[in-house]
Amino acid sequence: MLLGSGELGKEVVIALQRLGVETFAVDRYPNAPAMQVAHGSRVIDMTDAAALRALVAEVRPHYIVPEIEAIATEALVAIEAEGHTTVVPTARAVNLTMNREGIRTLAAEELGLPTSRYAFAGSLDEMRAATDAIGFPCFIKPVMSSSGKGQSYLQSAADVDAAWAYAASAGRVAKGRVIVEGLVDFDYEITLLTVRASDGEGGTATHFCQPIGHRQQSGDYVESWQPQAMSPAALERAREIAGKVTAALGGFGLFGVELFIKGDEVWFSEVSPRPHDTGLVTLATQRYSEFELHARALLGLPVDTSQREPGASAVIYGGMDESGIAFEGIADALAVPGADLRLFGKPESFLRRRMGVAVATGNDTDQARARAQAAASAVRPVKGN
Ligand SMILES: Nc1ncnc2c1ncn2[C@@H]1O[C@H](COP(=O)(O)OP(=O)(O)O)[C@@H](O)[C@H]1O
Ligand SMILES: [Mg+2]
Repeated sequence: MLLGSGELGKEVVIALQRLGVETFAVDRYPNAPAMQVAHGSRVIDMTDAAALRALVAEVRPHYIVPEIEAIATEALVAIEAEGHTTVVPTARAVNLTMNREGIRTLAAEELGLPTSRYAFAGSLDEMRAATDAIGFPCFIKPVMSSSGKGQSYLQSAADVDAAWAYAASAGRVAKGRVIVEGLVDFDYEITLLTVRASDGEGGTATHFCQPIGHRQQSGDYVESWQPQAMSPAALERAREIAGKVTAALGGFGLFGVELFIKGDEVWFSEVSPRPHDTGLVTLATQRYSEFELHARALLGLPVDTSQREPGASAVIYGGMDESGIAFEGIADALAVPGADLRLFGKPESFLRRRMGVAVATGNDTDQARARAQAAASAVRPVKGN
């Protein structure tokens, strides 16, 4: 049972079906991308613990695979405790990572990993004190939010009131609780896809994909490439940090560990206990995509994280608020050497909604990035009929 049925979940469903698994996709709206390919589907409010428990009792899945963070995770803890269902990777991991306070406290205070300076605040007064303590510039993020929602970048104390109001309006649950983070002046940032899989002898082995570089705009990824060139010392440090944080979260599955890099120095930023949007590039670059790796790992099967070719991905936005859009320029996009497309089939388009992605391979990441950009910009969303 997939909780959240977006474009990442759709690829996980396809990967699981290729291994003969029966799939059931859940989301809060009908005809979500993964529902279009799953055996069964249901529309429920996944933040409603009672609704979630009732659906699990009805469908009786062997595995629950969360795809998003906005889930009644306390229900998952109870379901896991009953012992019939494996929550991937673990209910605790899903619970800790859905809240920036949980994962930051684990990473920085329990594991001693380097992070940005940070403080938490639950009111405007607390936030003023927190920004004074951390200093400017800084970021404000609702503790429960993703894809840049409710986030602000503050240059000075004059920005505090507006940032508080914006965060309080956009946070998912726990309205009005925020993290204040000092700016990390990084050279570049990466996603290190990290797989915890069976070692075939009753234990767990940790595997790393090649690092993925990416560019973010307003907290949302616009392009990614693999491999990101790194110094050997930075790569070793990145793997060490990713190994520690994923071991603390436990279970089998693929994790997207977000790290900031400056020279040989590495900071932990956040982690998704599931495939990562910047990892869509692996559809073009790896022997097994991040989705296939997640499917294999969660089933206790062997994994192979090897890369085949350098590659890149570029996001295709809806560009309009409209339901039932169509696309033009597909032939031009697919004529770009080494390029391929995923058009997600989302039933409704928004101006900045991710509606598809172009992926491309190349001799190096510069060529792959140019190709992915060319393919993505050839695709033109148009009003459907
Ligand atoms: N403390 C920070 N220092 C520098 N850049 C940051 C910091 N926090 C966030 N960012 C930038 O904003 C992006 C989104 O922040 P992130 O915490 O990953 O939010 P989300 O959960 O929405 O992905 C990061 O990938 C990075 O580019
Ligand atoms: Mg992020």
